[in-house]
Amino acid sequence: MTEFTEDKNIIFYAMRDKEVILKAAEIIRKGGIVAFPTETVYGLGADAFNPFAVARIFEVKGRPYFDPLIVHVANHTDLDRLVIEIPSDAKKLMERFWPGPLTVVLLKKENVPDIVTAGLQTVAIRMPKHSMTLSLIELAGSPIVGPSANPFGYLSPTTAKHVQDQLGDKIDFILDGGPCEVGVESTILSFFEKRPLLLRPGGVPLEEIESIIGKVEVRPIEEEKPLAPGMLPRHYAPRTPIVLDWSKKNLDSYRDKKIGLLVFQEPKNFLKFHQIEVLSKKGDFREAAANLFSAIRRLDALNLDLILAEAVPEVGLGRAIMDRLRRASNVISTTNDSISTFRGMGKKAYTTEDLIRDRKCERNIEDEEDRG
Ligand code: TXA
Ligand code: MG
Repeated sequence: MTEFTEDKNIIFYAMRDKEVILKAAEIIRKGGIVAFPTETVYGLGADAFNPFAVARIFEVKGRPYFDPLIVHVANHTDLDRLVIEIPSDAKKLMERFWPGPLTVVLLKKENVPDIVTAGLQTVAIRMPKHSMTLSLIELAGSPIVGPSANPFGYLSPTTAKHVQDQLGDKIDFILDGGPCEVGVESTILSFFEKRPLLLRPGGVPLEEIESIIGKVEVRPIEEEKPLAPGMLPRHYAPRTPIVLDWSKKNLDSYRDKKIGLLVFQEPKNFLKFHQIEVLSKKGDFREAAANLFSAIRRLDALNLDLILAEAVPEVGLGRAIMDRLRRASNVISTTNDSISTFRGMGKKAYTTEDLIRDRKCERNIEDEEDRG
């Protein structure tokens, strides 16, 4: 434990003040953990070269140690401390998109702690586009690891308030840099395979990447192995079940349920919805991505039986939005009576009723724990 947790001196700042950043940097230098803003989502930061500080991040998040972390850099000196060499395609993309929502997976230098990379030979790196965080990294004098600042498996935070609500009492400091502009996590590309491989669609659309380096390999969700760690089929999940591939024909059994609707552009009224969230009235993907996690959080707070989510076209940022919705939904299809869902890593037929009952049960257990 650091001195910061001991005295529970957790301060929530709204100022973009140099002094605040200095204070946060000092906490990182002393081995503490600080939530920091980026253009994608809020991260949970610790000195990447301090294995003890990094271990505390896994504890705070309840994250399995097999799931490696992204290291955030502010300049090329940081990069030199982490990787052996940078393939030319990766270089081109870094020149074009950094600082920005692109993470590259490269061969790591030996001194990068194993706890950061889960023992892999590679390390994931990105330069975030947020002036406060770039200063934080520079002042800390070390690259910082930064998983999204949420309990493992839950939705990523896109405001400092989200972080405060979920992890406020477990971390040393929250740097408030306002709401995240992009709203979905970075695109992750591995340069460790024969051809560049998309590990996670995100804030930089695949089309833009391919326009610079040509065809990139993409793996469907179902083929992901636990070794593409953190890409678990059930992830980014709220407590309320989300159903994605529903058809109006099959909604009869939902009539007596308390249902929320998450739509891209147009509100719908084919059922009596308890609440409707529209991601972007003008149908703009950027706006929709920026609103996605907040909208799901608002619905999740209403204690609904179910959230029906509308699919968006899978182009540009739509690909990242659909990836998050699929993982959040945990449900592949409702086109027949039994819904196929991913349970853990295995696929299994499952009905909506099962799903609602299961999540209710999980919620009750969590509520018990909250009281305890
Ligand atoms: O936008 C983002 O990337 C945010 C902000 C805070 O920077 N960070 C973020 O971190 O989303 P996290 O930990 O929630 O997701 C990182 C993902 C995980 O799924 C992890 O498995 C994968 O990156 N990853 C990290 N290192 C890897 C490696 N060496 N090889 C393959 N995947 C890796
Ligand atoms: Mg995450």
